[in-house]
Amino acid sequence: MTDRKKVVAINGSPHEGMGNTGQLIGFLAEGLAAEGMDLDEVLLCRQHIEYCSGCAMCIGKGACWIRDDYKALFKRLIEADAVILASPVYVFNVTGQMKTFLDRSLGHGHRPQASWKPGLAVSVSAGKGELWAARYLADTLRIFGAYSVGELTAIAVGPGEFYGLDAVRNRARDLARDLAQAMRENRRRPPTEHDLAFWQFIGALARENKAVMQADHEHWEKQGLYDRFENYVGQERSPGNAPPEAMKAWLKELMRRQQG
Ligand SMILES: Cc1cc2nc3c(=O)[nH]c(=O)nc-3n(C[C@H](O)[C@H](O)[C@H](O)COP(=O)(O)O)c2cc1C
Repeated sequence: MTDRKKVVAINGSPHEGMGNTGQLIGFLAEGLAAEGMDLDEVLLCRQHIEYCSGCAMCIGKGACWIRDDYKALFKRLIEADAVILASPVYVFNVTGQMKTFLDRSLGHGHRPQASWKPGLAVSVSAGKGELWAARYLADTLRIFGAYSVGELTAIAVGPGEFYGLDAVRNRARDLARDLAQAMRENRRRPPTEHDLAFWQFIGALARENKAVMQADHEHWEKQGLYDRFENYVGQERSPGNAPPEAMKAWLKELMRRQQG
């Protein structure tokens, strides 16, 4: 048995063994190895993952009926210490393989995991769309109980033809170090407007549609997620450092100075 931290990277490129996304994951693996951590890469093109049928059974009953590799893959991500979502840009967004995988995650996305662990988003394009795709992947990390420590992006047309290869490698090494540190120290990201918008949207959806979204509604109720944003982000709001008397005195002084 080993207590080495385990990172699982999902690669949405069909270019197995020679792709640019795979190379970026390789750079991250080198950085993580230097930190004493392992990276497992999963090639989505080697997995059997069916399209989502849109039946909504996952949000009503809490589980998907389709039998393929999805369930085992999801379990690997939940058990990992950190998650990496990586995809090249296909027509200005992630590949069909990645999108199909994320679509099948609908029910899990509606029912937030209790934990938040660090993750990374990775994307490469031939010159248009990698920033957008990485941002999208960074935000979808929440489905797997993860948050983004950072985004690794690059432009490369043919295999290995990176613009600024040294800069890409250095960025990968920096992000691997940040990811390792976040894992070691159990770091959290300060809550963002995306967290707030997600909490408001899915909470309202589950509450207002509880007749069809029973599994979601029960989860939100049982976990106390409806009650407070703090329960969703797993972080408290600090008490503040300006008592009402101090605020009053400050305003009085401001008015006195303005009138004077
Ligand atoms: C079907 C298809 C669609 C693509 N769409 C885009 C695109 O919208 N923007 C872009 O910059 N590159 C696009 N590309 C190029 C790839 O993103 C680019 O070559 C990338 O480096 C491939 O990474 P990979 O080897 O990991 O698959 C597309 C490639 C294919 C095959």
